[in-house]
Amino acid sequence: MSRIAVIGTGYVGLVSGACLADFGNHVTCVDIDAAKIERLRGGEIPIFEPGLDDVVARTCAAGRLTFTTDLPTSVQANDVIFIAVGTPPAEDGSADLRHVEDAARAIARAMNGYKVVVDKSTVPVGTGRKVMGWIAEELSRRHLDYGFDVVSNPEFLREGSAVQDFTHPDRVVIGADRPQGRDAMKEVYRALFLNETPYIETGLETAEMIKYASNAFLAVKITFINEIANLCEKVGANVQEVAKALGKDGRIGPKFLHPGAGYGGSCFPKDTQALARTGRDFDEPLSVIETTIAANERQKARMVRKIDEGMGGVAGKTIAVLGLAFKPNTDDMRDAPSLTICEGLVERGALLRVWDPAAMKEAAWRLESIRDRICFARDEYDVMNKADAAVILTEWNQFRNLDLERVKKLLKSPVLFDLRNIYSRPVLEERGFKYFGVGQ
Ligand SMILES: NC(=O)c1ccc[n+]([C@@H]2O[C@H](COP(=O)([O-])OP(=O)(O)OC[C@H]3O[C@@H](n4cnc5c(N)ncnc54)[C@H](O)[C@@H]3O)[C@@H](O)[C@H]2O)c1
Repeated sequence: MSRIAVIGTGYVGLVSGACLADFGNHVTCVDIDAAKIERLRGGEIPIFEPGLDDVVARTCAAGRLTFTTDLPTSVQANDVIFIAVGTPPAEDGSADLRHVEDAARAIARAMNGYKVVVDKSTVPVGTGRKVMGWIAEELSRRHLDYGFDVVSNPEFLREGSAVQDFTHPDRVVIGADRPQGRDAMKEVYRALFLNETPYIETGLETAEMIKYASNAFLAVKITFINEIANLCEKVGANVQEVAKALGKDGRIGPKFLHPGAGYGGSCFPKDTQALARTGRDFDEPLSVIETTIAANERQKARMVRKIDEGMGGVAGKTIAVLGLAFKPNTDDMRDAPSLTICEGLVERGALLRVWDPAAMKEAAWRLESIRDRICFARDEYDVMNKADAAVILTEWNQFRNLDLERVKKLLKSPVLFDLRNIYSRPVLEERGFKYFGVGQ
């Protein structure tokens, strides 16, 4: 059993903290956001993440998970200190390491002996060494020479299935220079050894690179099938059948071959940007990734054009938008394609009715700039009331089986833009809909 502090209690910090406590460790989750910590202490989960409430309730009740804003005490009382703060994109596309630096320096200012500092935030290659430097600098200011190890332990969880991903990962990656750091991490993840989770030990830089290479590869795969989908539309092929056959090839695999409105979310856009930036910094251009980033922007713009052309112009028309989160089972709208697409439609003169099962609170401020052109609906049917067309932007389960007769009555004309390909064109056309998918 390890004694752990997790600095940063967001999507990753909260899930990691709760699941590490579920593994039997003692965990203190720390955040500078006092309101968030207050809500967590009151038993409220500040994010939408299926199953997380049960893990938090269980581990809190067992006394293994606590929440605080008191970073110094948390550092002093624990041996392994995770950094799980945000690394948003800076203006130039690089990762903004401000929060990581703040956390590292705060840890060093509080240290009362040997600590293992674990970087779980997604950070560019070389950041682990910078963390070492920041800690050493603060310790020397205090005239102390406590030992410490810095470990890279990138996180691969997916929002929407974060608890399952954290507790049943495809692999755990540990980047460390010295045995003390590696041994401490084996204790932290001891529970995963029982089910023989692949456990990969590397150097610091390699672990940092594994995370970026993984995300970039997935972004490339999505973008690849999006471009094939676009070509399918032109040549009369069906991308769903192409993707199915393609995915049967064991070397390719079926995942991440679903064409759509472009990738989004809190990771792929910023991580591809940051990796491309690292490539440029080291004079090793990552042309596949640079192209992917540009193609993904084009994909989102293409969706706006598809709707505009499909409706014979959107100006003055009302469009029902079903789904705003960047994917189902999350309330996260960071870099969601819905933002670009909603803004693009409004720019062309459309009025929007929007609805998402989890992201309405997020949408209220993220769509603030076009607020006067948007009506926030009550549910998946209310959103379509008297709209000229419906657009499915997120493949939430409740959108997969809509009562099509009701939809037809609600819409002024039965036009559906299914940008996640969750409906079948023949079925929709048979029911009298004008149907637009992606790559069909
Ligand atoms: N969200 C994901 O699906 C995901 C998956 C894998 C990796 N990551 C990576 O994990 C990191 C965290 O992402 P997230 O989505 O959890 O971010 P988030 O914005 O949800 O959470 C970050 C938290 O850190 C807190 N924080 C910032 N500075 C702090 C400080 N100095 N001390 C204490 N708390 C501080 C913020 O208040 C916030 O609550 C990022 O690097 C991200 O790229 C995210």
